[in-house]
Amino acid sequence: MSYTKRVDGRAFDELRPMSVKVGVLENALGSCLFQMGKTKVLAGVYGPRQLYPRFLRNPEKGTVRCFYNMYSFSVSDRKRPGPGRREKELSEKIAQALEPAVMLEKFPDAVVDVFVEIIQADAGTRCASICAASTALADAGMPMKDIVSSVAMGKIGDKICADIDKYEEDYEGGATDIPIAFMPRTGEITLLQLDGEISPEDLKKAISVGREKVKEIYEKQKEALTAKYKGDKQ
Ligand code: CDP
Repeated sequence: MSYTKRVDGRAFDELRPMSVKVGVLENALGSCLFQMGKTKVLAGVYGPRQLYPRFLRNPEKGTVRCFYNMYSFSVSDRKRPGPGRREKELSEKIAQALEPAVMLEKFPDAVVDVFVEIIQADAGTRCASICAASTALADAGMPMKDIVSSVAMGKIGDKICADIDKYEEDYEGGATDIPIAFMPRTGEITLLQLDGEISPEDLKKAISVGREKVKEIYEKQKEALTAKYKGDKQ
């Protein structure tokens, strides 16, 4: 089915309005409040600290562990509290998307814990979590090769769209979600998932649009970090 106009009037490759703030949690070593449209995520970083149980330790490199959670009121039909299968899988995927950017060899045997709380959800929460978490890791002063920036790409009807929202994810004319994360400096992909159907050509197009669009997110992440360390009011 032809998808002629986005419901919120955006261009097909346009991101939702975005806001990034760091240093929002006093107890955490690093933190970030990241908002993309109505999707709002808070990330807090603790560590590196000793990893328990001991058998999980890696003497050659550290571990990034993520805990993804959705507040009950983050969606309109009350999310059941506590981690289910979806939350466990997302936690693993988010940690895997962050690990390539962190210099894990600098803290063998240790773990860096990244907590992500979804305050409000309108699709793309895993991507927003990756953005929030990587900015919080940088805020914590973690040795990193780059920040990770992520966007929920999609094929909605016949159009490749950037930063899809819940309406688009549920579009009856056909919707394929393609969450994707990059280290923007090198363009290296750290997460690529696909739910739905898409041709190889369209997938390549979605990846190349995503690779360009994350540069806008990357700039906002860097701006938030620079603002904090320059002492600007955020
Ligand atoms: O959030 P993301 O797109 O990364 O993951 P998803 O599992 O594809 O979820 C898509 C969206 O469905 C979420 O962002 C929420 O808006 C919504 N959702 C919900 O309403 N209730 C849930 N229990 C889980 C997700």
